[in-house]
Amino acid sequence: MTRTFEHIPVLFHEAIDALALRDGNCAVDVTAGGGGHFRALITQVGETGKVLAMDRDLRAHADDAAGGVHKEFSRNTHLVHRPFSQLKQSLSDLGWSGVDGLLCDLGVSSPQLDQDDRGFSFKQDGPLDMRMDQSQERTAYDVLEAASQEEIADIIFKYGDEHRSRRIARAIKSAWPIPDSTLFLADLVRKSSGYHNSRVHPATRTFQALRIAVNEELQELQHLLDALPDVLNPGGRAAIISFHSLEDRMVKRAFNAGARGKNPIWQLQTKKPITPSEQEIYDNPRARSSKLRAITMLSPEGSSTLEESL
Ligand SMILES: C[S@@+](CC[C@H](N)C(=O)[O-])C[C@H]1O[C@@H](n2cnc3c(N)ncnc32)[C@H](O)[C@@H]1O
Repeated sequence: MTRTFEHIPVLFHEAIDALALRDGNCAVDVTAGGGGHFRALITQVGETGKVLAMDRDLRAHADDAAGGVHKEFSRNTHLVHRPFSQLKQSLSDLGWSGVDGLLCDLGVSSPQLDQDDRGFSFKQDGPLDMRMDQSQERTAYDVLEAASQEEIADIIFKYGDEHRSRRIARAIKSAWPIPDSTLFLADLVRKSSGYHNSRVHPATRTFQALRIAVNEELQELQHLLDALPDVLNPGGRAAIISFHSLEDRMVKRAFNAGARGKNPIWQLQTKKPITPSEQEIYDNPRARSSKLRAITMLSPEGSSTLEESL
């Protein structure tokens, strides 16, 4: 098991370009992870700017991850161990009234996926954990234990878009108590789902669904989207990278809603999401499902600094 934080930032140039930060700006990276994007934001805002980074996983706070980037530039950076649903509180603790750029790179980091003891992957054995924040009590095993068969089926259907959710849930509850093992669960799902020639592992959607439930990922995202109008300065930009259709749909809806009507609050920078190039997918297959959407906050008069500067 490797202890070196190796995560290749996804849609790196596209995200940094979308934020168009300038010297002296104030920015936030709400998903600091290995610090790849975080480092770029710090460079963009220059010596007179400042950057807040957040991550709910303490692993991201280590020296070989965003923690090390923070130490290197500590004069104008902050790193907090909080979920991004607490963004407003974090900004107010720092006395910041708003930010000129916000980056959110959803999902899990490569070390979260690759470290077997984190329990995110069905490819290697580990406990059914899946907590991004390991100070949180409820693990994936706890979720499965506490939920009824019907509730498990709903989780797998809703968060995994898994049409065989009922038979998978039935198999889990019939076998309960199951060993606290990712490989055991993956095998149970494989046998009960009846998928034979599928391109992806039959447990892919069930594991995604459990992870979303354990970390309340969609609730977290909704909090962040709701907070955007309050935290972005006029002309400020937000860029969100998502990895599956549930997330992308939420981002798309919220961005479109704010850009419509007589009094839009922001302007869409991306009518269609930006997706990775073939080269990026070849270099980093984990980028393949990523989608980037971005907005620019309008100033009270209704024109963005984007337009003013053109
Ligand atoms: C895809 S990685 C980010 C990688 C990062 N952009 C980089 O360049 O290394 C996602 C990170 O977001 C964190 N995360 C996910 N949901 C979060 C939330 N609701 N609040 C805070 N951090 C979250 C995860 O712990 C993980 O470290």
